[in-house]
Amino acid sequence: MCGIIGYTGKETALPLILGGLERLEYRGYDSAGVALIEGNKLVVEKQVGKIRELVKSLWGKPYKGKTGIGHTRWATHGEPSTENAHPHTDEKEEFAVVHNGIVENYLELRKELQKQGVKFRSATDTEVIAHLIARSYRGDLLDAVLEVVNKLKGAFAFAVITVHEPNRVIGVKQGSPLVVGIGEGENFLASDIPAILPYTRKVITLGDGEIADITPEGVNIYDFEGNPITKDITLVPWDIISAEKSGFKHFMLKEIYEQPKAVGDTIRGLISGEEELPFSLKEFRRILVIACGTSYHAGLIGKFWIEKYSGVPTEVVYASEFRYGDFPVSEEDLILAISQSGETIDTKFAVNYAKEKGAKTLAIVNVVGSSIDRESDYTLHTHAGPEIGVAATKTFTAQLTALYYLASSSHPQREKLTSELMKVPSKIETLLDKSEEIESLAQKFMKKRDFLYLGRYLSYPIALEGALKLKEISYIHAEGYPAGEMKHGPIALIDENMPVVVIAPQDRVYEKTLSNIEEVKTRKGIVISVGFEGDQKLEKLSDYFLKVPPLEEDLTPFLTVVPLQLLAYHIASKLGLDVDQPRNLAKTVTVE
Ligand code: AGP
Repeated sequence: MCGIIGYTGKETALPLILGGLERLEYRGYDSAGVALIEGNKLVVEKQVGKIRELVKSLWGKPYKGKTGIGHTRWATHGEPSTENAHPHTDEKEEFAVVHNGIVENYLELRKELQKQGVKFRSATDTEVIAHLIARSYRGDLLDAVLEVVNKLKGAFAFAVITVHEPNRVIGVKQGSPLVVGIGEGENFLASDIPAILPYTRKVITLGDGEIADITPEGVNIYDFEGNPITKDITLVPWDIISAEKSGFKHFMLKEIYEQPKAVGDTIRGLISGEEELPFSLKEFRRILVIACGTSYHAGLIGKFWIEKYSGVPTEVVYASEFRYGDFPVSEEDLILAISQSGETIDTKFAVNYAKEKGAKTLAIVNVVGSSIDRESDYTLHTHAGPEIGVAATKTFTAQLTALYYLASSSHPQREKLTSELMKVPSKIETLLDKSEEIESLAQKFMKKRDFLYLGRYLSYPIALEGALKLKEISYIHAEGYPAGEMKHGPIALIDENMPVVVIAPQDRVYEKTLSNIEEVKTRKGIVISVGFEGDQKLEKLSDYFLKVPPLEEDLTPFLTVVPLQLLAYHIASKLGLDVDQPRNLAKTVTVE
């Protein structure tokens, strides 16, 4: 079984195609490839191995084309090799085809073509389709496809593009699955819905003997005789999506539960040596972390670790602010851009600005092949897998993993630190069984209109993150604040109606945080604390106590964030809100 995807529209095609292939990787991954229309040229890139190999081969390549097709292969004809990887082209490389299924009569077609002088470069059945379409082409791709499909026998789904018609993709379905995704000024073809789900839920499911002719402006469907067919556009029913949610009510909850795997896979991906950085942090005068939202919060935590383990002064700046300040950036600086999507426009522009100033750029991204991935000098990939819920959860803890790995990368006790990090997934696992306890807490507080989240040191960014999670999916106002700053203003907010979430693991600022809790209590505030199991002192002080397993100080953020993610989730879910796609928000902010 293979996965195919096609795109034509207003965006750069490559990251969408690679993201789609990632979500189709379960359909097979012995090789992968893309074909793009770049100006008046057809560009084909393909690699043996997982999609990650293809993406690595694409690093730094400035492909901007807005039409393309992609393929992830599970070999049927021809062993896994670059030659046999899709897409396949005609001899002049003017037509490219990706295919899922089997053309049963390919041998006789191949022989016929060879008699006509065609030189085959692969052992696949698919290559036959590319040569046949090229030989049938007389100015209209649909006519050529109609002529060819009636020569093919077997079960197949394929997509084809040509340099002669740069904003068009044609898909054919006969026996193997193929859906059309309907976007705004863009349209998709894919073997399966998950590939296009982050971009649209409006789909047309093609039937056997049907052809989809897609352009950015629209989609036309025909039968194999060329007769137009009217098809309904359906909104992907949530029960299909729930199949993708493997039984969870929302993607966000599923992704919260995937965090042990996301952290573990990221550790394995980073220590496998795949992404060894060719420099030590100590070579730089300063490290400037640039990010937005949750990624910014990860950066604030990363700052503590980087300064602790490398001694290099580190600043964390909102990308949207960085671009308009007069930051004295120079080639002695390392710019660290954190972005799970790799497409956030503010972060992307900040990377470009820093490069113009001669600074080295290192990205931490989750979407391989994304713009920030390709435009940065170096990248550390998180391996959290696709995150569909708008609210970032598993990509956050995966970012923390990459940041801890980076911070300790130039430390003499690197191996010891990494082995500490490897304890984290199982610690998070134990936490996830406590969801019911948090669900009942959500029931109590779901009608509140204001929350305050407090923390010190490593727990301050977690306070910010917990507040962001709540406000972005429940629309309840929530503010994260340094606990030590409370007395400089926010304490005026405290009364018997104000739930105050305080993150208080037994770390270097524990006693100070306890006294902040006392201050809240004396003003009748309701304290929901997050702390170590067995901490009776904290439990006695709190109205509600969310326990996490004890862990060394450095790594507490991996754990203390989880109850806050669950609290936000259960409040929003109980309010009956669209947890995965909250109002006014997008998973990737590609506008300024
Ligand atoms: C976090 O839950 C939000 N989805 C949002 O703040 C997000 O973190 C921000 O837009 C940055 O996205 P990025 O990591 O893809 O750059």
